[in-house]
Amino acid sequence: MDAARLGRMRNPIIVALDLPTGRAALDLATRLAPHVGAVKVGKELFTAAGPEVVRALRAAGLEVFLDLKFHDIPNTVAGAVRSAVALDVRMLTVHAGGGSAMLRAAESAARTAAAERGTEPPLVLGVTVLTSMDADALREVGVAAEPAAQVQRLAALAVDAGLRGLVCSPQELSWLRRVLPAGVQLVTPGIRPANAAADDQKRVMTPEAAREQGADWLVIGRPITAAPDPVAAARAISQSLR
Ligand code: C5P
Repeated sequence: MDAARLGRMRNPIIVALDLPTGRAALDLATRLAPHVGAVKVGKELFTAAGPEVVRALRAAGLEVFLDLKFHDIPNTVAGAVRSAVALDVRMLTVHAGGGSAMLRAAESAARTAAAERGTEPPLVLGVTVLTSMDADALREVGVAAEPAAQVQRLAALAVDAGLRGLVCSPQELSWLRRVLPAGVQLVTPGIRPANAAADDQKRVMTPEAAREQGADWLVIGRPITAAPDPVAAARAISQSLR
C-alpha cells in the first residue's frame, strides 16, 4: 500500500455521504478528501448513483465503505460481496442476523475475490441490532431478548463466523471491547462533536470519547456534511483526534 493511502487510513473519520446525487457526493468528497480516512456510500446514494459513484470516488483516491447491509441467502450475499470487491471498497456491511452460513459465505467471498485480484480483502462488518429497534420492536419480530443481549449474541456469531469487524453504537463500545477478541475493528456512528446538534440521533458521543472507548472508525454525517463549511468541520474533528 502506498504511503498516501496508509496516511489517510490512519484518519479514523468516515464521512457518511448521505446525499441524493452522485455529482453532489463526488464534489463534497473531493473537497473533504484531505481531512477524512474514508467515505461511506449507503443505500440512498447507491440507489441513486449506482456503482459508478463508487468507481469515481476510488478514482479520486478515496477509500470507500459500502454500507448496503446485505442480508440474503448465502450464495446471493457471496455474489454481492464479490461485486463489492470488484469495486475495490475497503469495508462493507452485512446483517449478522442473516446467520452463520451467510456470514461465513460473505467473509470467504471477500477473501477469495480479493486474492484473485491480488488485493487486501475488505473488512466485512457485521451489523447487529439496528439502533432504531428497542425491546418492543424486537419482540414484534419474535426476539424475546433485550437489545443488549441480542447485540452480544449477534456480535459473537459474526466473530465466530470469521468477521473481523462490527458496526456498533457508541454506548456498546466499552462492553463490546471487553467481550470481543482483540483486533476486531469497531465502526461507530452516532458521533457528535461537543458543539454539534444531535439531529435525530438519540444517544451520541464525542469523537474523542468514542476513540477512547475503543472505536477504530467513526462514521460522521451531518456534523460535517450539513455544516456551513464542511471542510472546516472535518478538519476540526480530525485535529481534535490527533
Ligand atoms: O448524519 P449522521 O452523523 O447522524 O449519520 C450517521 C450515519 O451512520 C448515517 O449514514 C446513518 O445511516 C448511519 N447509522 C446510524 N446509526 C446506526 C447505523 C448507521 O446513524 N445505528
